[in-house]
Amino acid sequence: MLKFAKFSRLALTLGLCLAAIPALAQQTHSPKAVPSHAPQTKQDPWWKHAVIYEIYPRSFQDSNRDGVGDINGITSRLDYLHDLGIGAIWITPMYPSPLVDFGYDVADYTALDPLYGTLADFERLMAEAKKRNIRVIMDFVPNHTSDQHPWFKESRSSRTNPKRDWYIWRDGKGPGQPPNNWQSWFGHSAWQFDPTAGQYYYHHFYVEQPDLNWRNPEVRKAMYDAMRFWLNRGAAGFRLDAVSRLFEDPNLRDDPILPGKNAYGDPNIQHKYTDNLPEIHEVLREMRKVVDAYPGNPVLISEADEPNIKELTKMYGTHNDEVQLPMDFQIADVNKLSAPDFRKLLDEVENSPAHGQPHYFFSNHDQPRAWDRYGDGVHNDQIAKLMAALLLTPRTTPLMYYGEEIGMRTTPPTRKEDVQDPIGKIGWPEEKGRDGERTPMQWDTAKDAGFSAADHTWLPIPPSSAEYNSILSFYKRLFELRQSEPALQNMREGSYVSLDRDDPNVLAFLRKNPANGDSVLVVLNMSGEAHTVKFDLASLGIKGTSTKTLLAAPEPEQTSMPLEHFAIAPFGVFIGSVH
Ligand code: GLC
Repeated sequence: MLKFAKFSRLALTLGLCLAAIPALAQQTHSPKAVPSHAPQTKQDPWWKHAVIYEIYPRSFQDSNRDGVGDINGITSRLDYLHDLGIGAIWITPMYPSPLVDFGYDVADYTALDPLYGTLADFERLMAEAKKRNIRVIMDFVPNHTSDQHPWFKESRSSRTNPKRDWYIWRDGKGPGQPPNNWQSWFGHSAWQFDPTAGQYYYHHFYVEQPDLNWRNPEVRKAMYDAMRFWLNRGAAGFRLDAVSRLFEDPNLRDDPILPGKNAYGDPNIQHKYTDNLPEIHEVLREMRKVVDAYPGNPVLISEADEPNIKELTKMYGTHNDEVQLPMDFQIADVNKLSAPDFRKLLDEVENSPAHGQPHYFFSNHDQPRAWDRYGDGVHNDQIAKLMAALLLTPRTTPLMYYGEEIGMRTTPPTRKEDVQDPIGKIGWPEEKGRDGERTPMQWDTAKDAGFSAADHTWLPIPPSSAEYNSILSFYKRLFELRQSEPALQNMREGSYVSLDRDDPNVLAFLRKNPANGDSVLVVLNMSGEAHTVKFDLASLGIKGTSTKTLLAAPEPEQTSMPLEHFAIAPFGVFIGSVH
C-alpha cells in the first residue's frame, strides 16, 4: 500500500560516489547460471524458495521505440533475469487502461493494452519464461475499475441499470453534501457526484477509479472469471492490489478525524470504516479456491499495509486458506537502519506460530527506493549491500524491485510540469508523486541507458545512471550463495535464530542447517562505527570457534574470523559458515 505519511519524499538524500563506470545492469563478471528453482511439491511449493522480481512494464524495456516499456521488451530481458537467479516476475498491470493511475485503473480485465503488446506477445513471454524456469505473476486490481470500464459506464447510466449495484452508489447528505466524511487515499472526498442519476459514487483512490461492490455476488463471479482467464494462460498467480480496501461500512459511519493535515491539505483521518473490514477474508478464501483449482501451485500475494505483524498474520487465513505471501510492509518501512527495530520485527515473525511464509521487500513502485530511504548519503553503496543481504538471507520469499540490484536511485521530478503521476500534481510540492521510483531501467551505456531508442522516454533517465557502484556483483554472489548453502534455503527449512538480542548496532542471526551440516552466520553492522562482537554459538550445537567467510563487504583480510572476537566494519556485511 502507498506510504506517504511515514517517509517524506522531501527528505530524500541522493547518494554520492561519482565515478567513471555507470550503474548498469550489464556490468561486472558474467555469473554462473544458477537453476531458478528445484522441483516442487504441494508441501514445498516454488514460491517458498523463489526470489520474486517486480517489473514496472512501462519502465523495464522498450522494444518498439515509443519511449514506454512493453511485453516484448520484458521477453528480451529474460536471460538477464535468469542469470541473476530470479524465480518469478510480478508485472504491474498491463490491461487496457486510460492510464490515470498508470494501469491501476483497469478498463478490461481480460485483455492487454496495445501500448504493451498483444496476447500473442504475452503467450511468447510465457513460453520463453517457462523455458528459463521463470514464473509470471499478474497484478490483479479487485478494489476498483477505471471509470471507462464498460461495467461502470452501464452502472452510472441509470439507477435501475442491472449493473447499478456493481459499484457503491449513495445519496448525498443534502444538496452538495457527500454521504459522509470518507477521504480518498489520493486526497479529498472519496465521494464523487454523478449528475446522470443524481447520486455519489465511492472511490478509495482517484475519482476515475470507482470502487467495485464486493457485496454483490455477480461482481465476485466476474472477477474470479477474470482471474481464471489469466490462470488458463499460464499465470503463476496474482499480486492482489489494495485488498484491504475491498469493503466499506454499510452504515456509512464517519471516519474518526485525527489532529493535523495531510499532504493534500485535508484533515488527517483514520480510515476506520473503509480499510481492513473482516469481510475481506471471505473474499480471500474464495480467491484462494480459484487459484488452488489450478496445477503448479499458483500463488496469491497481497498488498495490504497491515498496522502490525499480528494483523498481517491474519492474511494467511486461520486454516492457511487465504494468501500465501502477504507483503510485509512493517519490515519494508522501518525506514531507518536500526538493528533493534529490524530484530524485533524479524523475531516477531519467527515467533508467531500462525505466521506463514514471510514475504519481505524494501522497494516498489509506490515508495522511494531503499537506496535513498536507508542510505546515509555517504555510504549508500555499502548500505545497499547490507540491505541486499537483509533481503536475501533471512527465512523469507524475497521480493525485489527492478533496478534494486544495480542500486538505482529515486529521482523525483524537479518541476511540477514534468510530473506524470497525478498524486504529484494534486500534492505538489509537498507530495511529488511516484515518478522518482519509476524511472527507466538502466541497462548499459547506450542512449537512454539501453532502455529505449525513442527520441523521448516517458520518464527521463536519471543523471545518476552515470555513477559507478558495485551492487550488482554483490547481488549475484548473494544469489549464488542462496543456491549453494542449504542453510539459506527455505525449502529445506533452514531455521532463523536471532543472535545477540541486545546489541544496539549489529543485527546477527544464524540460518541453522537442520541436517547438522554447515550453518550460516549473518552479521550486519547497521551503524557507521566498527564493532567487535562475541558470539557464543555452543548452545546452538555449533562446536567450531571460528567462521569461514562466504561473502563479505568490505572484503575481510582473513578467510576465517574468530567467533570470540568478531570485528565488523562500519555498515559491514558478513556471511560465513559455522559448524
Ligand atoms: C496500489 C498500487 C498503486 C495504485 C493503488 C490504486 O496501492 O500499488 O500503485 O496507485 O493501488 O490502485
